[in-house]
Amino acid sequence: MKQNILKHLAIIMDGNGRWAEQQGLKRTKGHEAGAEVVREITTYCANHPTIESVTHYAFSTENWKRPKLEVEFLMKLLDRYLKKELATYQEENIRFVAIGDLSQFSPKLQKTIAVTMRETRDNTRLDQVLALNYGGRDEIVRAANRVLERGGKITEESLGAALDTPYRDIDLLIRTSGEQRLSNYLLWQLSYSELAFTPTLWPDFTPEELEGLIGDFEQRNRRFGGI
Ligand code: IPE
Ligand code: IPE
Ligand code: MG
Repeated sequence: MKQNILKHLAIIMDGNGRWAEQQGLKRTKGHEAGAEVVREITTYCANHPTIESVTHYAFSTENWKRPKLEVEFLMKLLDRYLKKELATYQEENIRFVAIGDLSQFSPKLQKTIAVTMRETRDNTRLDQVLALNYGGRDEIVRAANRVLERGGKITEESLGAALDTPYRDIDLLIRTSGEQRLSNYLLWQLSYSELAFTPTLWPDFTPEELEGLIGDFEQRNRRFGGI
């Protein structure tokens, strides 16, 4: 019998660069391959009976430290990806949501993000959330300032409600590539999440592997401090 139902899934898709380097390719080829996997995993999640949202870490507040060319490539890839995916989002009834500080992106990319969010906002089957220029600390600081600007008091409820993400709690976090750290991801929302780490590099990650990890999750004993 299942102990848990998976509603909110978060993924740190890591290992694109190493995947490419292992094959003597440029890191950018790894990001291209990784984008295809985002598409497959999103479709899997949309067809899953209990998943309501999947939140992918696509670009962190720390990723600006990378070489300028890689950052520029990632921005272009994102723009292309969203323009191409819009049709799929509509067909599959997927709502696209971006979280993070979007103000640092070019006006062109900001527009693509805003259009994709607007066009898909009434879709109901799955929330496909992309964390873009996202940092967990940055999100909490921005949320706190929103509460204070409205003259409110900081409580778990008011701060939680002012976060970028429309839901508080992630049920399962998966990180690929063997690294076992959070890298400033969803610090608030991961407070009680189950964690799963796999050595698979993101471009090699498959819906079958995801299914196995979800099966493990469903058998875990989540106590939330109780007994
Ligand atoms: C994750 O893959 C994708 C992004 C951070 C955009 P990496 O680019 O971090 O790949 P590795 O960790 O260098 O292999
Ligand atoms: C985390 O991966 C960010 C994304 C997947 C977008 P990184 O590769 O940037 O994280 P570190 O440097 O290993 O912590
Ligand atoms: Mg990495």
